[in-house]
Amino acid sequence: MKLLLIGSGGREHALAWKLAKSPKVEKIFVAPGNGGTAIEDKCENINVTDIEELINFAKKEIIDITIVGPEEPLTKGIVNKFQQEGLKIFGPAQNGAMLEGSKSFSKAFMKKYGVKTAEYEIFNNAEEALKYLEKCSYPTVIKVDGLAAGKGVAICETKEDAVKAVNSYMLDDIFNGAGQKIVIEEFLEGVEASILSITDGKTIIPFISAKDHKQIFDGGKGPNTGGMGVLAPNPYVTEEILEDFKENIMNKTLIGIREEAFDFKGIIFFGLMITKKGTYLLEYNVRMGDPETQSVLYLMESDLLEVIQAALSEELANIEIKWNNEVCINVVLASNGYPGKFTKGYEIQIDEKVKDKVFLAGAKLEDNILKTNGGRVLSVIGTGKNLEEAREDAYSNIKDVTFKNAYYRKDIGIYE
Ligand code: AMP
Ligand code: GLY
Repeated sequence: MKLLLIGSGGREHALAWKLAKSPKVEKIFVAPGNGGTAIEDKCENINVTDIEELINFAKKEIIDITIVGPEEPLTKGIVNKFQQEGLKIFGPAQNGAMLEGSKSFSKAFMKKYGVKTAEYEIFNNAEEALKYLEKCSYPTVIKVDGLAAGKGVAICETKEDAVKAVNSYMLDDIFNGAGQKIVIEEFLEGVEASILSITDGKTIIPFISAKDHKQIFDGGKGPNTGGMGVLAPNPYVTEEILEDFKENIMNKTLIGIREEAFDFKGIIFFGLMITKKGTYLLEYNVRMGDPETQSVLYLMESDLLEVIQAALSEELANIEIKWNNEVCINVVLASNGYPGKFTKGYEIQIDEKVKDKVFLAGAKLEDNILKTNGGRVLSVIGTGKNLEEAREDAYSNIKDVTFKNAYYRKDIGIYE
């Protein structure tokens, strides 16, 4: 089979690596890909991102299945457009993708189907939002409605912080329209968990749970990032929490997907907050997480292509996904300065013995040399029978990966 994989992050390198392991896969074109997919087995990067051009490419190369990594093309309706041309593509159509594309849409969906989530109000107008801030309790959480590259959520400790957030989103319009509508919601205290899952619209199968580490510094300090490392499975997701999640969040979401008649054959990622009052859904993503994917796919024993094929033919009810029962962590090596300003273009050296334990993200291949090309540069994997072993493995593997100004957290996998 010939596949077309869309995206350029560490997530896509992990997807390409896992798909390449399938004996059914002959070739994977990655659009546009990165330094990791440039050197991965069976893979070839193509410099195409425009949806019409991707359609032309898929037709010309007779691609069997296209797999979409990031949310943006999904919210733009790439799945509908490929399907209109008779091309097979894995991902939700545009209406289902709005579960990630619009916070007000997803909160309304959660409310309609009784999915457990924080209390909230929606505002289209700054004056009304500011008036609401006079009477709400603090901390409070303010979210822009549209996509904002993971930056559109403010946890406001005080009314002054909240006023600043509303002004910057609605009046200064720092997210170019995405913040013209906002959600103000109840602050939930607890620990977070990521549960990725796959659905064909009839059945939903959760993947192994994961724990992201969002802040830049050790101990969960400093500004939020895209994710600085992931532990899987997530030790907080006990059998009891998993049951709570299935009953109050996952199954109700599936009912909603069916009732709304979304054409949803893709990934649905539940961002959870486990609190003393139970497990709440913070958000849906309609794609795999990054860097969750790197740890989760490392533990997947089943052939990912077969799992995707089962979703596309609405046969998920007939399969079981098999997992390795080890612990896997991945530690992100970032360019020093990220998530603020940083310098790119440094050479990356990866010792041959850890080659299969590194997923590249913000990295490019130039004249056969790997160079840093983004904030989060790569993830290093560690595995073991328990967390201690996995941590030891990851931090020892990191010693065999070098680039100038590399920064990473030392506490990935340590949790209270
Ligand atoms: P979201 O994009 O909705 O997942 O929000 C990004 C991050 O903001 C989450 O991963 C949480 O760390 C935090 N967050 C979002 N909503 C809440 C909430 N209601 N209470 C506390 N923290 C939240
Ligand atoms: N790592 C969090 C996300 O992919 O949204």
